[in-house]
Amino acid sequence: MCGSVGYIGDKQATPILMNGLLSLEYRGYDSAGIAVIENNEITVMKDKGRVANLKAIDGIDTLTSQVGIAHTRWATHGKPSKENAHPHVDNHNQFAVVHNGIIENYHELKEFLTQKGYHFISQTDTEVIPNLIDYYYKNGISDEDPFLRAVKSAVDNLKGSYALEVISKLFPDRIIVVRKDSPLVIGKGKKENFVASDIPAILAYTKDFYLLDDYEYAVIKQDEIHFYDNTLLEHSKAIKNIEWDATSAEKNGYEDYMLKEIYEQPNSIRETIGSRLKLGEPCSFDDLDFTKEYLDTIHQIYIVACGTAMHAGLVGKTALERLCHIPVQVDIASEFRYRDPIIDEKTLCIYISQSGETADTLAALKLAKSKGAKTLAISNVIGSSITREADYTIYTHAGPEIAVASTKAYTSQVVLICMLAIHFAEILDCKQESVLENLKSDILDLPTKIEAVLDKAEEVQKFAKKVYTEHDMYFLGRGTDYHVAMEGSLKLKEISYIHSEAYAAGELKHGPIALIENGITVITILTNPDLVEKSISNIQEVITRGAKTLVVTNQKLSNVNFDYVINIPETNELISPILSVIPLQLLSYYISKNKGLDVDKPRNLAKSVTVE
Ligand code: G6P
Repeated sequence: MCGSVGYIGDKQATPILMNGLLSLEYRGYDSAGIAVIENNEITVMKDKGRVANLKAIDGIDTLTSQVGIAHTRWATHGKPSKENAHPHVDNHNQFAVVHNGIIENYHELKEFLTQKGYHFISQTDTEVIPNLIDYYYKNGISDEDPFLRAVKSAVDNLKGSYALEVISKLFPDRIIVVRKDSPLVIGKGKKENFVASDIPAILAYTKDFYLLDDYEYAVIKQDEIHFYDNTLLEHSKAIKNIEWDATSAEKNGYEDYMLKEIYEQPNSIRETIGSRLKLGEPCSFDDLDFTKEYLDTIHQIYIVACGTAMHAGLVGKTALERLCHIPVQVDIASEFRYRDPIIDEKTLCIYISQSGETADTLAALKLAKSKGAKTLAISNVIGSSITREADYTIYTHAGPEIAVASTKAYTSQVVLICMLAIHFAEILDCKQESVLENLKSDILDLPTKIEAVLDKAEEVQKFAKKVYTEHDMYFLGRGTDYHVAMEGSLKLKEISYIHSEAYAAGELKHGPIALIENGITVITILTNPDLVEKSISNIQEVITRGAKTLVVTNQKLSNVNFDYVINIPETNELISPILSVIPLQLLSYYISKNKGLDVDKPRNLAKSVTVE
């Protein structure tokens, strides 16, 4: 939620900050702003709306400053407006701050500062921060590093989550940053350094990153970066080379990131499989060292995640239960963390998160750790918060996912968890080798089969044209097909704003069938041969009541009266969601395009939800 970027170096800061903001818009896009130090003064420019509005502000191009910070906002406290946009400055225009996160005790801090004579212009929680810094700067007792000490004193008063970037006209040679429960990365360049809430913002300029830890401070200058712990003791820090190349975070000729990411799936799945899975060899994960002795003690597995990642977890549950015979519960992170789940050291908790920064998933992970469970993270972002908290991490390696609606991350998560299930089954020696080898072979065939599904795009596009004006749609399925139905329904809501619901097909007659009337679209996924007949009967029930039907299937169906059928290749039931979800991703994409909506940045949503 919210994106921030900072620059200090030998170049004009504004174009770099603008580029950074544009690539961060998926984190929030209701207002944007920059602050630079120009002629020894802090200059702030900001506006409501997208970064494009900010770019159009008169005079923004003429700013020559070589140091600055910038922000694109997803409003929490205070409506989207110019006043509430970041950066925020103190009453004396000495310090400017951009902030991601939420300051929970800002009312108290506002009261304290008001008593000290400060006034406030915005309704944000953030505005207390530059004023607190100003207050502590003026009332500081130390001559040594007064700016850093003032920031630290201010931060000591904050409750909540924050990633802060601070500049001061009194110290124009540095940006001070600190974080807690909100991501922040520092990019190292030559005669220039960068800071951002997320890697893609600065990937065009550097591949060398420092990943800041909670309560860690950094003072970033043009040629040096200094790191300090929470007592301001200086320490050194290891640099990380991030393999993503900048073009992988660009559109490369596609109209939208989402379409590009849908089409990247043959390759992203190849990358996820990597060298972990080969025929005739045990499935291996370099970063895992689970033993049979340990896995034998596990009496339950929890999979915890949010949104699309949670849907991947539902598919993963079936794979883990079938292959490893360990009971698996899947939970929504925001529910799990508040319901006192029964977990102990005999529980393995798996956390799935594309970004690795989702606040609820991170909190749920910390909770399980505190109860003695082992934790395993599945993430796409190297060094993200969740991966740093977990006992073990396996990466999806799907490459940067920029569109808010997740597509390639989902399919990579599903394949990865399925490979994990094979790995556990091999360690436990609990499944016939031939079953595992057949599944491996099906996994290795996935990229080619995904290409075959993508060839159906035109058929999906035609169907989208027929239904894009509708107000309600229903998705049905049984078993893993039901879990795909849930994901298809979520995609449709997210980017086309059409109300939709997913139901286990057998549950239809227990209520929802009352909603089926003439012309309603019902989309069914039919890939499980054992359940096909049952699901067909359910489709007949809606046809009888006037529904228009689309069926996504890998079965050879004869004598059926469905309106539209999208045929996809056959594969093992445990991984069929990777193929059957693609027509649903394409459907929501084309419906959104037909409606003229912004596919990549749907209203009210943000990709990385770093607040509760
Ligand atoms: C947001 C995004 C979803 C995503 C969910 C979980 O709601 O809009 O697309 O599935 O967060 O994100 P994560 O990064 O934890 O996978």
